[in-house]
Amino acid sequence: MTQTDDRTGTGLALFPPAFRWGVATAAYQIEGATAEDGRTPSIWDTFSRTPGRVHLGQTGDVACDHYHRYAEDVALMRDLGVDTYRFSISWPRIKPDGTGPVNPRGLDFYDRLVDTLLAAGIDPMATLYHWDLPQTLEDGGGWTVRDTAHHFAAYAEAVYDRLGDRIRTWTTLNEPWCSAFLGYGTRDQAPGRAEPASAFLAAHHLLLGHGLAARALRAAGAREVSVTVNLTPVSPRDPQDRHDVAAARLVDGLHNRIFLDPIVYGRYPADMLEHTARFTGLDHILDGDEELIGAPIDFLGVNYYAPTHVAAKVGTPSSDRFPGTEGVEHPDPDLPVTGMGWPVEADGLRRLLVRLARDYPSTPLMITENGAAYPDSAEDGRVADAERVDYLRTHLLAAHQAIQEGVDLRGYLAWSLMDNFEWAYGYDKRFGLVHVDYDTQTRIPKDSALWYSGVIGRNGL
Ligand code: NOJ
Repeated sequence: MTQTDDRTGTGLALFPPAFRWGVATAAYQIEGATAEDGRTPSIWDTFSRTPGRVHLGQTGDVACDHYHRYAEDVALMRDLGVDTYRFSISWPRIKPDGTGPVNPRGLDFYDRLVDTLLAAGIDPMATLYHWDLPQTLEDGGGWTVRDTAHHFAAYAEAVYDRLGDRIRTWTTLNEPWCSAFLGYGTRDQAPGRAEPASAFLAAHHLLLGHGLAARALRAAGAREVSVTVNLTPVSPRDPQDRHDVAAARLVDGLHNRIFLDPIVYGRYPADMLEHTARFTGLDHILDGDEELIGAPIDFLGVNYYAPTHVAAKVGTPSSDRFPGTEGVEHPDPDLPVTGMGWPVEADGLRRLLVRLARDYPSTPLMITENGAAYPDSAEDGRVADAERVDYLRTHLLAAHQAIQEGVDLRGYLAWSLMDNFEWAYGYDKRFGLVHVDYDTQTRIPKDSALWYSGVIGRNGL
């Protein structure tokens, strides 16, 4: 590997030879066709139809119409030169009532997609749960009930049964933090409940679902099993102030360790059990659960977007609706922000990766999402998204630096292949490397797509 000075641009920061380069998407954000071929509503169909929940009342009914245009989208990826495509499978397409018989027409779609990817030389990487819980299961309690974890494992097995001969890499969950805490704790995402106890029940049952599905996939013969978590490095405002440090430790626990420790080590951190007990009493964690959650994984998927800066709050309670963080505030870190208002700090990615390699040393890592929304527009067939190029460039250099520091990082997947339904923000926020005109469904690769393609071609930047 050529050693270079990354920052002056005098040489190339090369990635390891087997490094995987790709893009990522999720079913509800791109597919559309929500009522086709036997699919039933998910919690996102319900949530997006609930007044006031999603920007302008937008839904995923049509989205990028990927369900019908997948061949064109695979061709876009082939032109980009990616070797890996991370997509998600829609549970309500596969099991319309969440638990019962498999709907073959739902599986047919992913069968076609996978074959098209393989024919284009792209490795399919399937996520089994990217937030679209069948509504029927939510009606029975959703992730707050234990049965949902078992139904998830059965669904995972059914998908493996049909596609396991061609999909090498399986991811159980995407960002359980969002599903549990934004879905059941703060009402920002589906199913839109604001019940602190439910958020902690959901977190545990999601993790249990991961463990059960990971074991089932492995037993069925899966070659690579992973789970994707959204992580953030948490810094105290004043590292010398013990209150700020304690606030940072709490937020790090609730965001990162409450998922990482059970997944990697099969046990919850003691401070997080204590915190959970404030809301739930812990009866939902049965003997043996933590061990199940600690099912071996082949790598950990890391989604990184932004760092978190916290301080202890003195006086009035925090406006943070996250359960149990009354004593925490989020001072303005004075960094540039993306179109989401999220602070940009590429070194946060390096710090995060180095910390993971230190605290969870035997777990290889893959960046399964990284990217930025900016309000870009197409003019004369071109989208000049210099800010996104800069975001990707600096974050890739940070990832490269982490590898130089010894981190076992296996790949990088940009979020996202194309503009899509950004959950509660609807179509207002554009994360794509490819621009989508939602009136005509025309796709235009942005400057960032062309730039990323060059990086992939050189295996470095
Ligand atoms: C994480 C989620 O996995 C994805 O669905 C979302 O669009 C991006 N972050 C951007 O917010």
